[in-house]
Amino acid sequence: MQIRNNGMRFGTVAHVLHWGMFAVFIALFVSAEIMQDLPKGEERWALYGFHKSLGVTALFLVFLRLSWRGLNPLPEGSGNNPAWQRSLAAAVHLLLYVVMLVMPLSGYVMSVAHGYGIEWFGLWELPDLVGKDEALAEQAKQLHIYSSYGLYALVGIHAGAAMWHQFVLKDGIMQRMLSVKNPLTD
Ligand code: HEM
Ligand code: HEM
Repeated sequence: MQIRNNGMRFGTVAHVLHWGMFAVFIALFVSAEIMQDLPKGEERWALYGFHKSLGVTALFLVFLRLSWRGLNPLPEGSGNNPAWQRSLAAAVHLLLYVVMLVMPLSGYVMSVAHGYGIEWFGLWELPDLVGKDEALAEQAKQLHIYSSYGLYALVGIHAGAAMWHQFVLKDGIMQRMLSVKNPLTD
C-alpha cells in the first residue's frame, strides 16, 4: 500500500479523502433535498441538524485534504494530454476546492445569522461567529443555493472527464485515484 502521493499517482490517504468526501457530498445533497420537503416538526429539524453536522464535517475534511495535498507531491499530468487539457483539469480542481469551502462556510453563516446555533452531532456546540442578521442570512442562503448548482456542474465536468480518460483515451488517469495498479505507470 502506498500511503503518500508520488509524482505518478495519488496515495491511499488521498484516495480515502477523495472517495470519502464523495460519499459525504452525496449524503449532503440527498439530506438537503429531503429535509426541505418535510413538514415542519421534529423529523425536519433532526434532518436539518444532520445536514448541518455533516456539512461541518465536510469543512474539516477539506482542510485536512488541503493540508495533506500541501505535504505531498502532486501527480503530474499525463504527458500524452495537451497542455490546455492539463490547465483545464487544474482549473476545475481549483474551482472544486473553492466550492467545497464556500458551501459549508455559507451554510454556517446562513444558520448562525438566522439565529439558529449549530451543534455538531449533539456533541459540540460551535461558536456563533456572526451576529443575528436576516439580510446576511438571506445572502448566505443564496450563495449556498447557487454554489450547489456550481458544484453539480463542476462534478459533472470532472466525472465526465474521468470517464473519457477511462473509456475513450484509456490512459490510466482514473487509476491514479483508485487503489489498483496502474498498468501504464506501475
Ligand atoms: C459541503 C457542505 C454542504 C453542501 C454540499 C450542502 C448542500 C446543500 C444543498 C444542495 C441545499 C439545498 C439548496 C436548495 O435549496 O436548492 C442545502 C440547503 C441547506 N443547507 Fe447545506 N450544504 C452544505 C453545508 C451546510 C452547512 C455547514 C450548513 C449549516 C451549518 C448547511 C445548512 C443548510 C440549510 C439550513 C439549508 C436549507 C436552506 C433553506 O432553508 O432553503 N449546509 N445545502
Ligand atoms: C464519480 C465521481 C468522481 C470521479 C470518477 C472522480 C475522479 C477523479 C480522478 C480520476 C481524479 C485524479 C485526476 C488526476 O489524476 O489528475 C480526481 C481528482 C480530484 N477530484 Fe474527483 N472524482 C469524482 C468526484 C469528485 C467530487 C464529488 C469531488 C469534489 C466535490 C472531486 C474532487 C476532486 C479534486 C479536487 C481532485 C484533484 C485532487 C487534488 O489535486 O487534490 N471529485 N477525481
